[in-house]
Order: sequence, then C-alpha cells, then structure tokens
Amino acid sequence: MSTPTDPRPQDQFAKKAEAWSARFSEPVSDLVKRYTASVDFDKRLAKFDIQGSLAHAEMLQSVGILTHQDLDDIRRGMAAIESEIDAGRFEWLLDLEDVHLNIERRLTELVGDAGKRLHTGRSRNDQVATDIRLWLRAEIDTLLDLLGQLRRALATLALEHAGTIMPGFTHLQVAQPVTFGHHLLAYAEMFGRDAERLADCRKRVNRLPLGAAALAGTSYPIDRERVARTLGFDGVCRNSLDAVSDRDFAIEFCAAGALVMTHISRLSEELVLWMSPRVGFIDLADRFCTGSSIMPQKKNPDVPELARGKTGRVNGHLVALLTLMKGQPLAYNKDNQEDKEGLFDTADTVRDTLRIFIDMAAGIQVKPEAMRAAALQGFSTATDLADYLVKKGVPFRDAHEAVALAVRQCVERNCDLADLSVDELRAFHPSVGDDVHGVLTLEGSVASRSHVGGTAPERVREEAQRVLSPPPTR
Ligand code: ARG
Repeated sequence: MSTPTDPRPQDQFAKKAEAWSARFSEPVSDLVKRYTASVDFDKRLAKFDIQGSLAHAEMLQSVGILTHQDLDDIRRGMAAIESEIDAGRFEWLLDLEDVHLNIERRLTELVGDAGKRLHTGRSRNDQVATDIRLWLRAEIDTLLDLLGQLRRALATLALEHAGTIMPGFTHLQVAQPVTFGHHLLAYAEMFGRDAERLADCRKRVNRLPLGAAALAGTSYPIDRERVARTLGFDGVCRNSLDAVSDRDFAIEFCAAGALVMTHISRLSEELVLWMSPRVGFIDLADRFCTGSSIMPQKKNPDVPELARGKTGRVNGHLVALLTLMKGQPLAYNKDNQEDKEGLFDTADTVRDTLRIFIDMAAGIQVKPEAMRAAALQGFSTATDLADYLVKKGVPFRDAHEAVALAVRQCVERNCDLADLSVDELRAFHPSVGDDVHGVLTLEGSVASRSHVGGTAPERVREEAQRVLSPPPTR
C-alpha cells in the first residue's frame, strides 16, 4: 500500500528488509512500517544530519579511511540533497524509516560507493544523538534571544510606568500599593532566570556523541575531537554507552521550557484579569484578541488564554520524556525515537509563544486611573500607618492592633484611612502626630520602599535600566 510519504509502488523501490540486508527473510507489514518509522517527524533534522555527516566524512578522510575523491563526492552529493530538500523536491520514503537512511540512500544514488562508505565507524545511534543536539543548540540560541527581547519589552514598559501606582495583591486581596513598573519587572526576573537555565542546559547539550557508534565505540582510528571542533561542540561525550542513550539534556530543556511557559501562564492570567471590565487596568491591542460569534460586544483575550492553555502540553512533554527514560537499560533502545515529537513541540510552542508575547507586551495599553482607583480601595496603606507608629516607638504588635481598629471603623463608615482627621486617628493611638497623612498617600507609600528590590519609582527606573543595558558580565 502506498502512503502519502511513499509515492512509489513498493516493488519498484527498496523493501524495508533491504535496508537491513540479507539478514531478513520477509518484509515488515505496512502497519509495522508506519509504526516504526520516524521520517515523518525527524526529517526536520535533515540539515543537522547533513552537517554531522560532512564533519564525520571530513574526519574519516583526515585519518585515511576515505579518499579525497570520496570526500569530494560526499560533499557534492550532500549539496545536491540539501537543495532538493530546500526546493521541496526530496522524496522522503517511509520504507527508509528515518531521516538518516533516507539521506544516506539518496547520497548513494547520487554518488555511488562514496555514499556507501560514509557510515563507516558510526551508527544511527550516535548519529541521531548528534543531530538532536545540533538542532537543540540552535533552538536554545533562538530562545535566549527571544527571552532577551521579551525582557527588554517588559523593561521598556516598566520604565514608562515606574511611577504608575496600582494595588499589589496577596490572596488576590488588595495588600499594599506597588508600581506597575515594579510588577512588570517581576516577570523580567522570571524570564531572566529562564535564560540562565537554558544557557546552563546548553552546556550539556553541546557535547559530541559521534564516535560512540552503536554503543561500544569503534575499532577505526577516528578523531572525535576533530569532529567536535568542526561542529562547534565544547567537547566529546566521554562514555560511549552514555553517549548513545543519554537524553538528560532533552529533559533539562523540556523542564526549562515548562518553566518558561509557567511564567508566561502566570503573566497571561494577570493580563486576562487586568483586561476584564471589572478590573480594567489594561487593554490589549485588537490583534491579540477575538470577538464572539454571538455576543457583539465581546473582545476576548484569546492569546493569553491560549498561552495559559498551551502550558499544559509543554508540561506533558516533560513528563512524557521523564517516563520514556525511566525504565531503559543501557544503551540505545528504540524507545528513544519517541523523544522527538514532544521535544520539537516544546521548542515550537515556547518559541511561538515568546514571539507573540514580545509583540503583545510592547502594545499593552495601561489605564493608570483605574489602577489608582483600585489602590485607593482596600486600605492599601494600612501597613504604612502601622510602620509610622513603630517609628514613633510603638511596638509593632500594638501598632498593628491600633490600625486594625481604625480600619474596622472605616469599613463601618465606608471611608478610607486617609479620610479620617488627625484627631480621629489619634483616638486609636496617642502617638499619631500631625504628619500622619504623609504616610497614608499612595505616593508616600511606594516612595518609602526604596531599598534594592523595592517598589519605589527610583528603584524601578534603575532596575529597568539594568535590564535594558545590563552591566558587562566579565
Ligand atoms: N530513528 C531512530 C531514532 O530516532 C534512529 C536511531 C535508530 N537506531 C536503531 N538502532 N534502530 O532513534
């Protein structure tokens, strides 16, 4: 039976058994063929597979296993294959199972014996591990760049709103006033840690498995360091059994990706809340929202909602990978072929999400009056009043109690602490002085928190600048 990826009639092309040679007496069924093949998804590794093969071939030539002519033929063939792939003319065949065998077979078709010699001293086991690492390294570099852009977008908005006051929440109850810039920079911190984690993960991704061959290494006089240098790896994997079976680096990447999405999801939740007409702190640009097919008035924050939802699938990929690895004996097992789809989807989801958020963050429309009005409700400066009393020598617990009584009376009279006169406030504690209203204002409250990590506008400006132009690391 022909499949979409297998347009040629079967008898005209290599039967699967042929890929493994004379050892097999019957071909696999079509179902088994489809079940075991990975070409439909691993063909996206093609560019890296070719890169790895060229480095391997160049090394084989340098140690005298391949001739100059072989190497030239392989280079010529691979160049042709790359352009076929780029042009969408390459014929991917399910019968050839995966990206590696498809490319090798085509190379042999194009250049003959040199193509057949390429696989000397390697196995698909070390080949696939190399391909994934090369691909993942490039993905990490893209994500690091995107995280930097997102942090800068947040810091730019934070700088603009260093003095915009909003209520800070705990338990989603109004707690203390904060600046909107400070709130945004909390996310810049999270995405900064994400970047650190990915950069750290990259160190373990960037090791060369090639040379491990199937599992035990190879008897050819290979030069692994040379291949590592050619491919830009920091070094070689130092145990052949581990080299072909290790997928820790992929798990680490998925864990780092899951945390990126967790942070995105928290931010999304806030954007959704802030955009609710009940809150009305912000508006998102129309291009990130959709309407309703039935309710004409609706503008729904679809992008943050979907990002919050996609966090689930990324978390799922992490658990899937951990589970994939937990019962595997050394060394390579076919189970490992299952590493790819979740890994690819993690990278795709995180990358697309970050790209959208960079654009969306830059276009957030802030409504400072709504934020201010909300901060004025809920006695957000009650702690400031308690701290004021402490500074006048009152023990903190007594101050806390006095303010609690004042708040209770305000609730009954439906007014704010700042609405009480000095005399009324003094009734709750004799230490209240004429200067008391200074600490009951929102501006006074945020300005007083000017230590490192505090919400004061001057601090927020400083921290935003740090994100926008970080001090040199070395
Ligand atoms: N497609 C395989 C994978 O993704 C390549 C390695 C196959 N090795 C093997 N011994 N069957 O893992």
